[in-house]
Amino acid sequence: MRNALAIFTLLFSISAWPASPQALLKQYEAQAKQESTSFTGFSADKGAAFFHAERMHSDGKKVSCATCHTSDPRNQGKTRANKVIEAMAPSVNPQRFTDAAKTEKWFGRNCQDVLERRCSAQEKGDYISYLLSIK
Ligand code: HEC
Repeated sequence: MRNALAIFTLLFSISAWPASPQALLKQYEAQAKQESTSFTGFSADKGAAFFHAERMHSDGKKVSCATCHTSDPRNQGKTRANKVIEAMAPSVNPQRFTDAAKTEKWFGRNCQDVLERRCSAQEKGDYISYLLSIK
């Protein structure tokens, strides 16, 4: 089981095939089922809560996904260095979640940055479900 997960994660992380948000959700669903036998599906509501939740970082500053991506994912965001981040919602920015390697790279960085840990497949799927629900 653990080995299967490791191999799956490896295959997934080195692949750079063009993706769609729906294809990515399928990947994360397969991963989430490996991570938890009680997986019951992704939730846009949980993704919304996850996106907006402020957490106290060990550096003493409050941070959330919305800190950079703004509280409305249809808006452009800003990095800490004030560089523009294009909108996260695929309805506004069709480039979003179309490159699995890019998505994995930024989940890796930003989950570490905000949560100080990796995101679970459940959290990633909830997050994408939330963004897809925004029209
Ligand atoms: C410190 C600023 C910052 C914070 C906080 C932040 N992000 Fe990001 N995020 C970025 C930048 C910069 C990019 C890359 C630029 C781009 O894609 O436009 C990015 C891109 C992404 C992408 C890539 C999407 C794609 O196109 O495939 C994902 C996924 C992502 N962020 C998830 C998150 C999540 C989840 C959180 C909260 C746990 C979060 N981000 C918090 C700055 C941030």
